[in-house]
Amino acid sequence: MTRYSDIVQDHFRNPRHCGAMSDPDASVTVTNPVCGDMLSLYVRVRQGAVAEATFQAQGCPAALAAGSMTAVLLQGRPVSDLDSITREAVVEALGGLPRDKMHCSVLAEEAIAELKRFLLPEERT
Ligand code: FES
Repeated sequence: MTRYSDIVQDHFRNPRHCGAMSDPDASVTVTNPVCGDMLSLYVRVRQGAVAEATFQAQGCPAALAAGSMTAVLLQGRPVSDLDSITREAVVEALGGLPRDKMHCSVLAEEAIAELKRFLLPEERT
């Protein structure tokens, strides 16, 4: 674990907003086809913003920390601003990831993209 930043280690050991949500406004699950790791996000939306977000993840420490940080970044975020939660933003908020673990942040970005499909259906193409 020493090659992970202190923030990654903290989120891995003490994940924020962890667990399924009953009756969410949207829930998505994405899987990394290479390693099989999985991330689910659940959100409750009020007045155009994410009032509550939780996550569940199976996988490596980086994937779990990225899921936790994604849930943190979702809290209070206007639905119209979901695009700002990129993999780069998640990695930066985590204090960086080892080069060989950068791909673990892809799950977060893919889950956000899926959430957008539910919450902003007019943007479907
Ligand atoms: Fe699969 Fe990290 S090794 S997401």
